[in-house]
Formats: sequence, C-alpha cells, structure tokens
Amino acid sequence: MSLILYRNTNLTIEELKERLENEKLLGFYSNQPLDTRDLLDNITGWMEIQQLYNGALKEISTKLEILDNEFQMNYTYNPIHHMECRLKSLQSIIHKMDRLNVKKSMESMRENITDISGIRVICRYLDDVYIIEKLLLAQDDVKFIRRKDYIKEPKESGYRSLHLLVKVPVFLSQRKEEIPVEIQLRTIPMDYWASLEHQLQYKNNGQKIADHHEELKDCANHLAAIEETMKHIHRDTVNLENFSLKKIDSQ
Ligand code: GTP
Ligand code: MG
Repeated sequence: MSLILYRNTNLTIEELKERLENEKLLGFYSNQPLDTRDLLDNITGWMEIQQLYNGALKEISTKLEILDNEFQMNYTYNPIHHMECRLKSLQSIIHKMDRLNVKKSMESMRENITDISGIRVICRYLDDVYIIEKLLLAQDDVKFIRRKDYIKEPKESGYRSLHLLVKVPVFLSQRKEEIPVEIQLRTIPMDYWASLEHQLQYKNNGQKIADHHEELKDCANHLAAIEETMKHIHRDTVNLENFSLKKIDSQ
C-alpha cells in the first residue's frame, strides 16, 4: 500500500467568500486588475473547477494505487514510494495567467492552465518511472497529451523528472468531462534534489541558486550515476521481464 498525500482542502462557498474577503482586507483583491476581479467574482465557476479537477486527481491517483497494489501482489515490491496530489491555488493560477498574458476567465483558465491538477509520483528506482508511465498510458480512458523527459534530457539546472500531461474523464450526474492532469514521475533521489533546489529558489531572490549552481549540477550528475548502478542491482532482485526493460533503456 502506498501513501497518497492530498495537499488540497475542499472549500465551501462560504469559506471561499470569507477567504476572498480576508485577501481584500490585505489589499490583494482591490489591487487586482478588473479582469482578475471578474474571475475572482465568479465564485461558483471556481467551485466547479475545484470539484472537477479534484475528481481527476482522485481518478489518476486511484489508478496508480491499483497498479502499485498489483505489483505488491505479483512481485512483492512497490514501485511507488508515495504520491503527492495538489490543486493549484487560485493565486498561483492568476500569476501564471499573468505570466502567459492570457485573458482571465474560467474558459481561458481551463484552456491555458494545464497543471491545475498535479500529481507527483515518487518511485523507488529508475525502471519504476518508465514502467508506471507505460502502464498508465496503456489504460484506454487515459488520453495522452504530451510528455517531457527531463531524465533523458535534464534541464540546465540539473533538474530531472518525467512530466506527463494526460486527460482523464470525470463523470458527473449530468455529463462527463475530460480533465487534464500533470503528472511528475521521479525517483526518491530526483525528489530529494528538486526539493533542495526549489527551497533555494525562494532564498535571497534566487541569488542562492546562482551561488550553488555548479554544486547542484554536480550533485545531480552524481545522483544520476548512482541511480544507474542501483537500477542494475535492483534488476537482479526482481523479475521484470514482462516490461521490456531493454527497450526502455534504448529509448
Ligand atoms: P510551469 O509554468 O512552472 O508549469 O513550467 P512549464 O509549464 O514550462 O513546465 P516545466 O515542465 O518546465 O515545469 C513544470 C514543473 O516542474 C514546475 O512547476 C516544477 O514543479 C517542476 N520543475 C521544472 N523545472 C524545475 C527545476 O529546475 N527545479 C525544480 N525544483 N523543479 C522544476
Ligand atoms: Mg507546468
């Protein structure tokens, strides 16, 4: 059984109004441009989005949990160490819409912000990342949208993870909607590196990142080399022949 951490809390309409009221007192609301205020005014629209995108998070995390449990049964090991699910906050969504310079409306939010639902899947070994990807994408209700493999091609910072964007159907009483979910698959060492680097981004306006840039890249390279060795040792402990690992290696 793997651990799923849900980072979001479901707000009621009353709580949301109260929160906006508090933010207004802090000057957040009144300082917003008019189109942002329209968006904030659309409280029920935001509630609906939360409901749908939370549903999508549950659909994907349940699928992953079922796969993990099956591995436990068949191979007596769990590829998934834990998962972290989060809904992007309204404030981060608005910042991103500003950055992308797109219209602020509910429709535009759903069209342009593809990481409202985000799941981070922390795996044990490198093979697990690609096995989980393959098994998830093979499910016929999971629609593949795009993929960025920052493991094969790490970012300049040294960041490594496999990013997938999929759509999954969420069934409501009157209709079905396909909702995008951003999935970040990474190993424990990749997560450990990314958390430290992320922490540094918030120190001294990013100056700390610059101070430690080379060291961080060095750490990322060392971790990648260790993981490659660990991958081969791990292959000697479990029989994963069914998953065509050689094909994964050569991709
Ligand atoms: P966002 O606007 O941040 O979503 O970027 P993007 O849409 O261009 O996607 P990208 O794949 O670059 O990054 C998406 C997410 O991956 C980020 O929100 C982070 O969670 C994570 N990420 C990407 N690059 C880095 C990095 O260099 N360091 C860390 N710590 N995390 C990163
Ligand atoms: Mg993103």
